[in-house]
Amino acid sequence: MTLWGGRFSSGTSDAMAALSRSVHFDWRLAPYDLVSSKAHCRNLVKSKILTAAEGKKIESALDLLRKDIAKGLVAPLSQDEDLHGVIERVLSDRIGELAGKLRAGRSRNDQIATDLRLYLRDASCELIAGLLQLIEAFIKQAKRHEESYVSGFTHLQHAQPIVFGHELAKHAHALLRDVERLEQWWLRTGVSPLGSGALAGSVLSANPEASAKLLLFETSAGNSIDAVSDRDFAAEFLFITALIGIHLSRIGEEWILWSSTEFGWAKLDDAYSTGSSIMPQKKNPDVAELARGKSGRLIGNLTSLLVTLKALPFAYNRDLQEDKEPVFDSLDTLLLLLPAISGMVESTEFNERAMSAGATAGFALATEVADYLVRKGIPFAKAHEISGRAVALAERKKVSLEELSLADYQSLNKLFQSDIFKVLTVESAVASRKSRGGTAPTALRAQLAELGTLLTSARRTNTKRTSTLAKLWGDSEGKSKRSRGATK
Ligand code: ARG
Repeated sequence: MTLWGGRFSSGTSDAMAALSRSVHFDWRLAPYDLVSSKAHCRNLVKSKILTAAEGKKIESALDLLRKDIAKGLVAPLSQDEDLHGVIERVLSDRIGELAGKLRAGRSRNDQIATDLRLYLRDASCELIAGLLQLIEAFIKQAKRHEESYVSGFTHLQHAQPIVFGHELAKHAHALLRDVERLEQWWLRTGVSPLGSGALAGSVLSANPEASAKLLLFETSAGNSIDAVSDRDFAAEFLFITALIGIHLSRIGEEWILWSSTEFGWAKLDDAYSTGSSIMPQKKNPDVAELARGKSGRLIGNLTSLLVTLKALPFAYNRDLQEDKEPVFDSLDTLLLLLPAISGMVESTEFNERAMSAGATAGFALATEVADYLVRKGIPFAKAHEISGRAVALAERKKVSLEELSLADYQSLNKLFQSDIFKVLTVESAVASRKSRGGTAPTALRAQLAELGTLLTSARRTNTKRTSTLAKLWGDSEGKSKRSRGATK
């Protein structure tokens, strides 16, 4: 059913109808459209467009429809263009002409913008919960490796020894920034477009602030033209999800490297790896590869919406219908990835022997030699030069820096004493980096405690928001499960 027709003498062509159709992806917004319709209905009663009895009748029809959709009793038909059409069709079947009264004073333009904001605010809580689970997995794994020595890398070359827990914990910081970004985005997205009408505002339900409050938004829109055409919140959401994808892809890349035979650091759990149909010995890091691979589509979804928005005239244009699929796809992709990556991270076993064997390889203690000389009063630039000559000497003699003799060191500089060998151990190199954020086990323990506190507080905020949003539904069964990938 179409929501217009008075001035048309023929129906739409099949090709036009097929092109226009969005119900196969916007149907998942139905529960949100119904609660926003309820808010609108209350406004219509207040402004005397509807009598109290009519308002009551419409509200209970909306509530019932929401429950029926949740039970799968109502679904779009092939002739339905979008979710608004389905809802009006079913309401008309159930309450007759009264259904048409609900359309007063609003437009699909302010409706769809409201629906998408409501949906995404709700969905972001689920996304944050997934991120927090992954952060917890990293903290747990890092705690198991507070004293596992390993080489740190720059340029993918051995750089300086570190403890492996420090290497793992770094991901928790990046992911916590993602959580923070979503938390801040949540507030910016809390602006209600309802009441903006097609573009100019509405005379009939002139209380946008009241609807905003009912829908648990922070405020109503300050400009009706901006309100119906603004998709910054969707673009920002796509940026945040793309950046999460990039973080996950960097995690994936590490897991792929670490589980290779050449590294031999990580043993993937059977539950989070796959075999090969032809090579029986294979165990492949597919979860990590999919994390790396799927970051491509997350970036693509962001690009797609930005290009749609570029130079788009104000206010509503049908181009804006293209906002939903990328946003839904990025959300679905991450909700699929996050639990798998959390499982992979938590269940991987690390081979401490293999890791520590390489901790000093590649002359990774060269900085210790330079720092030793600095402590003896030599300027770092000169100390760096002397240490470099020690590396060259060791290379020539085919030994490590620890294996050079004191005479070797003294041939390079007289300030070297036998205590040089005290600093030439992984343990001392690592333990000496004990300032905040450093790799020393003591600093790592402090870091993990701090991360634990941040995790707990982010969880508290998210639980609070989730339960606040649950009030939207006003009952326990209210919302249909956000039916991802709804109707095809
Ligand atoms: N399906 C449309 C969308 O997602 C709903 C708004 C349609 N508005 C209009 N004036 N045709 O953007």
